[in-house]
Amino acid sequence: MAGSEAMSDAATLYGIGVGPGDIELLTLKAARLLNEVKVIAYPATIGEESLARSIVAPLIPQGVIELPIKLPMEKRREPAQAAYDAGAAALAQHLEQGRDVLFLCEGDPFFYGSFMYLHERIATSYPCIVVPGVTSITACAAARGRPLAARVDRLKVVPATLAEERLQAELQSADAAAVIKVGSHFDKVRRVVDRLGLSARAAIVEAVTQSDERVLPLADIESGSRPYFSTVLIYRGSEPW
Ligand SMILES: C[S@@+](CC[C@H](N)C(=O)[O-])C[C@H]1O[C@@H](n2cnc3c(N)ncnc32)[C@H](O)[C@@H]1O
Repeated sequence: MAGSEAMSDAATLYGIGVGPGDIELLTLKAARLLNEVKVIAYPATIGEESLARSIVAPLIPQGVIELPIKLPMEKRREPAQAAYDAGAAALAQHLEQGRDVLFLCEGDPFFYGSFMYLHERIATSYPCIVVPGVTSITACAAARGRPLAARVDRLKVVPATLAEERLQAELQSADAAAVIKVGSHFDKVRRVVDRLGLSARAAIVEAVTQSDERVLPLADIESGSRPYFSTVLIYRGSEPW
């Protein structure tokens, strides 16, 4: 058993990365913990199925206590903060009673993952262990069949939510980039990519490793919104191998 896991007998909150969709990308450690704990929690946008839960659904043992943290579909931060406050309080009750809790997180918990919101609320009072997962951007590069970055390339992860000018400046100075949170920002991303003359080097990967995965050259996509779980990969390939 690794490091801090052996340090304490106190109940522990585990933040588990479940990868981007394919259950076979779950780590052995995550699978073992799933089989051992009695309480699992996960984020769930109100009215939608939790993606993190659905990825590992076949492995969830009968009879575990499930604690969905119901997140409102809102841009304002306060309602989500309130949901995490309530979720953290519910998890803490189980920890207080000596039950480990496992929080499922799509991809990796600390790569733009929602686990950080619970970690900051719980880690000062209870042991917290983060179990890394396969990130969406590495899975997207694998699905595309092109490296994310090579040798001395500067790879940037850039949220599509940035203002157009800033997005352009970031992509201009990158050798390779993963643009995340594409969704309704797709047309802006494409305008910037076109302006920088990078269209031929860009692809969009949607729902990677899931049943509806799509990998397409950016130029082949019609304008409009893309699904939230879409990533644009840009690889200049200017560094000779
Ligand atoms: C809040 S971040 C979460 C990242 C996640 N924790 C990870 O490790 O990949 C969400 C963004 O990651 C990207 N993403 C996550 N899962 C994806 C998937 N299955 N396919 C394509 N992109 C994905 C999308 O750009 C999405 O908008």
